[in-house]
Amino acid sequence: MNAVQGFIKRDRVFDFMVPKMVEGLDLTHGTVLYMEDVSVSFDGFKAINELNFYVNAGELRCLIGPNGAGKTTMMDIITGKTRPDTGTCWFGSRMNLLQMSESEIAQAGIGRKFQKPTVFDYHSVFENLELSMAGPKGVWRTLRARLTCEQRDRIGQILDLTGLTEVSGRLAGSLSHGQKQWLEIGMLLMQNPLLLLVDEPAAGMTHQEMDRTVELLTSLAGEHSVVVVEHDMDFVRALDSRVTVLHQGTVLAEGSMDQVQNDSQVVEVYLGE
Ligand SMILES: Nc1ncnc2c1ncn2[C@@H]1O[C@H](COP(=O)(O)OP(=O)(O)O)[C@@H](O)[C@H]1O
Ligand SMILES: [Mg+2]
Repeated sequence: MNAVQGFIKRDRVFDFMVPKMVEGLDLTHGTVLYMEDVSVSFDGFKAINELNFYVNAGELRCLIGPNGAGKTTMMDIITGKTRPDTGTCWFGSRMNLLQMSESEIAQAGIGRKFQKPTVFDYHSVFENLELSMAGPKGVWRTLRARLTCEQRDRIGQILDLTGLTEVSGRLAGSLSHGQKQWLEIGMLLMQNPLLLLVDEPAAGMTHQEMDRTVELLTSLAGEHSVVVVEHDMDFVRALDSRVTVLHQGTVLAEGSMDQVQNDSQVVEVYLGE
């Protein structure tokens, strides 16, 4: 049995606590994601250019950079949607992401949240969380099957974490934009990902919703590694994490928000816009 198969076999629904060492994923070096010398061209244009990027286990990282910098392409590479021309990509030190399919990567513990929330509007918040643990059983069998106590507890935990307990019986379609975003993060959490990639969570949110989202993402760090792509600099500052600035497909600067904000190159290409 190879490392990937061994890892998939682990029960993803019930173990809420992410162990520091999971079968198949060696995190002993403290790094959950390694991308080295990664390049990819589209019609001769280098969208990602000899990129090196590392994420520590349990870390919250912000990824910023001007439009076209390669942020989305980078996430596409991590999740297996786009294959790089050159370079290496590892999840922990044992899983070669370039040899895994998109679904294998998702199963192995990398979850991605796209910008637009995609919840099931005509199901309740609770049912949405229930459905997101459907897996091979399929949607209808999952909704008809009785939940075990453990499954109920787990949904309860995620409702708490995302601040949706009071609206758990409401149709997802009736939620505010912010609540939908939190629900979708909750749905990803039901899959118990080790690494979460979140694309522009604050877009379209009210200030209050942004504050709540900062709390949520901050609370996920530690147990999960979280990479957040965001344009709103107040939001990035509030996350108070390490920031990576991407420009022309490569890392221009990395450090605290204060450090990158005072970096003259960063000011020139991005913040000074
Ligand atoms: N499938 C594709 N085909 C051609 N060009 C692409 C494709 N995907 C991205 N690009 C180009 O690669 C560059 C990086 O895009 P993207 O990763 O979306 O940047 P960002 O998310 O930072 O705004 C852009 O110039 C974009 O036009
Ligand atoms: Mg993008």
